[in-house]
Amino acid sequence: MRLLVTGGCGFIGSNYIHHVLEADSGVRVVNLDNLTYAGNLENLEGVQSRFGDRYAFVKGDIADADGVARLFEEHRFDAVVNFAAESHVDRSILDSSIFIRTNVAGTHTLLEMFRRFGGWRFVQVSTDEVYGSLGAEGRFTESTPLDPKSPYSASKAAADFLVRAYVNTHGTPAVITRCSNNYGPFQFPEKLIPLMITNVLNDLELPVYGDGLNVRDWIYVTDHCEAVDRVLREGSPGEVYNIGGDTELTNIQLVHSLVEEVCRQMGTDFEKKKSLIRFVSDRPGHDRRYAIDFSKLRSRMGWIPKHTFKQGLRKTVAWYLDHAPWWQRIRTGAYREYYRNMYGTRARIASPGDTPPGPSERMR
Ligand code: NAD
Ligand code: TYD
Repeated sequence: MRLLVTGGCGFIGSNYIHHVLEADSGVRVVNLDNLTYAGNLENLEGVQSRFGDRYAFVKGDIADADGVARLFEEHRFDAVVNFAAESHVDRSILDSSIFIRTNVAGTHTLLEMFRRFGGWRFVQVSTDEVYGSLGAEGRFTESTPLDPKSPYSASKAAADFLVRAYVNTHGTPAVITRCSNNYGPFQFPEKLIPLMITNVLNDLELPVYGDGLNVRDWIYVTDHCEAVDRVLREGSPGEVYNIGGDTELTNIQLVHSLVEEVCRQMGTDFEKKKSLIRFVSDRPGHDRRYAIDFSKLRSRMGWIPKHTFKQGLRKTVAWYLDHAPWWQRIRTGAYREYYRNMYGTRARIASPGDTPPGPSERMR
């Protein structure tokens, strides 16, 4: 299979490329990525020497129609898996223009080229955030109406609608996956889990937005990658598949568990590190709760996540401890400027002594 993977130098895309090249010797991957702040060639170190001409990297923008056309012409792909995106909600609040260009116009360009050159399957990697925000009860299913609330999720929902329109109008053999929050190796330290791990290790404050009771449903990244690969091979054109990890946690529960795990692995004092937690002013329009029902994927393909949260967190903390140069390089340079902008002006709304949760709120 000649496979175009876009955004393969990012967090999930790089994990997917490692997975698919390892799992299927019949796959040849072209990785199209324009190396934004989130794209990192180090995430694929060793892949070229290990897999030789089964892997090629092309630096380019998915919204550049001429460049994408040349690539399709040269490689005549059987399938596309589109991971490329601007992916951080907080950045979409600061400035959403690039989100529209990459997530909407970029997906449109890929769909157009796929239509022009043909192919067997197009996988659009979407997110549960397109469904909006839940109250205390219920879970998102594939038939939950789309109700995105942030500029990021609105741009992802727009792309989902374009995919649906191409399926309906042009008969494009496309599928959409909608996954919950991922964590694991190679995640850029602007997202909650790697930000908190690297801050604890640096003895920096741990900024929890609002009351810390927003809920996210967590999945270990390789479980997501395996599910995407199953959907690529076994999914039916026109269908949507939810993917999740069955791990709902409030942010404050998660941060407690994470600090505990770092302390366990480092042999450091939990109470001391816990005192780094700060409740800070909330994210505007902060979605309260996500929870995903992936029973369709389970019943159609027999897929279930392999990692419990405890196992995934253990592996993730160990990876960040073992790969300090990877994240230390990121945390210098442009990241400092981002951090100052994003966190420098956030008001502190509670002191460490006020931290509400006790042991009963910790991870199961
Ligand atoms: P990421 O930000 O870590 O990586 C995105 C990658 O896309 C980077 O390598 C970047 O250089 C590349 N890219 C950005 N704009 C591009 C462009 N115009 N042309 C080519 N490449 C471009 O993102 P991620 O967390 O790995 O997310 C990957 C996909 O999965 C996204 O589509 C995201 O919406 C979706 N998703 C993410 C999560 C999550 O928890 N991270 C959950 C569900 C779905
Ligand atoms: P994030 O990793 O940005 O993912 P998403 O917003 O796509 O769910 O954030 C996960 C949760 O953690 C979300 O409720 C916002 C919260 N959060 C904090 O409390 N502090 C932080 O510094 C960050 C980055 C996120």
